Amino acid sequence: MRVLTADHPLIQHKLTYLRDKRTDSPTFRRLAEELMTLLAYEATREVRIEPFEIDTPVARTTGIKLSNPKPLVVPILRAGLGMLEGMVRMLPSAEVGFLGMQRNEVTLEATTYANRLPDDLTNRQVFVLDPMLATGGSMVDAIRFLVERGAKDITAVTLLAAPEGIAFMQEQLADVAPPITLVTGSIDERLNEHGYIVPGLGDAGDRLYGVV
Ligand code: PRP
Ligand code: URA
Repeated sequence: MRVLTADHPLIQHKLTYLRDKRTDSPTFRRLAEELMTLLAYEATREVRIEPFEIDTPVARTTGIKLSNPKPLVVPILRAGLGMLEGMVRMLPSAEVGFLGMQRNEVTLEATTYANRLPDDLTNRQVFVLDPMLATGGSMVDAIRFLVERGAKDITAVTLLAAPEGIAFMQEQLADVAPPITLVTGSIDERLNEHGYIVPGLGDAGDRLYGVV
């Protein structure tokens, strides 16, 4: 698995405000979207393209366009929804599928409560969005789900990642065939005893949408 940290100063600037506990929900939502747009630049570096001939007002030239099938973007509900708009702004022709996953806050095990994805992902390039990679349980389950349906290559995009979650992904996904890339805004220090990322930003879903 390839791990890319997008340590651009604008990303770090926006992450700092996102982490700040004084940041209110509307600002948090705006920052999460903006951060996704900036991370999309790194995450789509290997998006599939093909040559495309056009006429400029001056001459014929060969450019490029996105290949078919178009990429599939999969936000993991709830918190991944906060990144969706920022991604589809950059990839307006992408299709969107949804996976609902919830981590049990005691056992830290993830369960899947919703799935609205194409059954057949053969040959699809997939981008999975979730702001937080903590233990890695949710992301590993999501990626296994996509691999079982035939996804060709998968890029996970997170705002923050814990070293423990990255190690878990590396260990659990070592045997999967499609190439896996993780693009993250930051690799934080560690997980605390409750499975929260330190320094982190708290509960991303709650900060985006309120406590449930
Ligand atoms: C959060 C987060 C990830 C998961 C990360 O979601 O958005 O999906 O926890 O933790 P893990 O790496 O240890 O699995 P949560 O389950 O709190 O649901 P929510 O998005 O609905 O708030
Ligand atoms: N989920 C979150 O929203 N935050 C964390 O720090 C860990 C899991």
